[in-house]
Amino acid sequence: MNNITRRDFLNLVKRGFAATGLTALLAPVVAFFYPPSLEETPSEAVRVGTIDDIPPGESLAVPFGRYPALVIHTVEGFKAYSAVCTHFACICKWDSEEQVIFCPCHEGYFEPLGGEVISGPPPLPLEKIPLTITDGEIFIGGSA
Ligand code: FES
Repeated sequence: MNNITRRDFLNLVKRGFAATGLTALLAPVVAFFYPPSLEETPSEAVRVGTIDDIPPGESLAVPFGRYPALVIHTVEGFKAYSAVCTHFACICKWDSEEQVIFCPCHEGYFEPLGGEVISGPPPLPLEKIPLTITDGEIFIGGSA
């Protein structure tokens, strides 16, 4: 019969803690060199939905590569922007009551017709995403 001594047991526990700590240290390094397969910005157009899915004055947040995009039905038609705030990259939202895009992190406000900054700390407008409508279907990105 193979008896385990107290010393062996403690060595085993110590090795377990060391392996856990090493994994915690190396995981970010491995993640850096092998990022998730999601593209930063999709090379192909992304289907958003139909024009009926977004009533006038409303918006839809859709996945667009690694980050969401906002598709807004404005008074000038449909517009699409990256939802990533140009200040510190928080995710912006659509305020349908005020009809503005806002960033909840530091109260940045953007206008919906061009993505320009209305107020707050964002230094640049939101990034525009090309949008096309084909047979009532909305597509963003790609060669749209
Ligand atoms: S991150 Fe958007 S206003 Fe600061």
